[in-house]
Amino acid sequence: MAADFEKQSYWHHRFETETAFEWLTSSSAFMDVLAPQLTKLPSDARILHLGPGTSDLHNQLRQRGFLNVTNIDYEPLALERGQQLERDRFGDVRMEYLVADVTQLELKPVHRVAIDKGTADAVACGPADAVLSMAKAIHCCLDSDGFWVSLSYSASRFEGVRSFFEVEVASRIPTPKLKPTDPDIYLYCYLLRPKRDVAY
Ligand SMILES: C[S@@+](CC[C@H](N)C(=O)[O-])C[C@H]1O[C@@H](n2cnc3c(N)ncnc32)[C@H](O)[C@@H]1O
Repeated sequence: MAADFEKQSYWHHRFETETAFEWLTSSSAFMDVLAPQLTKLPSDARILHLGPGTSDLHNQLRQRGFLNVTNIDYEPLALERGQQLERDRFGDVRMEYLVADVTQLELKPVHRVAIDKGTADAVACGPADAVLSMAKAIHCCLDSDGFWVSLSYSASRFEGVRSFFEVEVASRIPTPKLKPTDPDIYLYCYLLRPKRDVAY
């Protein structure tokens, strides 16, 4: 990823014209990957959708019956786009939209799930400890059964957070090849479960 992907100004400029785009994979394909985790959840589970950009993953969650979804992005235009996508699909806006930096969240520990698709990758373009800060912030927002699902292009995205998260690669998603001889390249769907009683 280009270094600018951690900068809010990059996303602001981009979302001035972009109204719908999916990073890494489509939201419907990601929902298939999320399905084993989502089927265990009550429909009133509190879900954090981190760095939604102009993805319609939130609409996929609402379509599955999840309404307690808080979409968090530091770029207000992303949230405007998200609300428009929700309105276009359902005729109203019932999910929450919050302008905040995912490396500095201050939310109550009441959330069952945090989901990000490509956001940790964007954050990783910033300072060396940015993903660590994001992970600490998410750790504080999750309830006792909570977990974080992250889709990343990196096979080593969360090596630095193992002292306070159990990190598992729940699945690897092969990316499309242009030629049969192209190398196998995967996306990594991480399942991160908070360790308890850890000191940062
Ligand atoms: C790579 S895009 C992914 C967008 C969307 N999740 C998708 O799959 O298409 C990264 C998104 O994260 C947001 N973002 C990046 N760093 C952030 C931060 N520190 N706090 C909040 N949002 C951030 C950007 O504004 C952008 O919407």
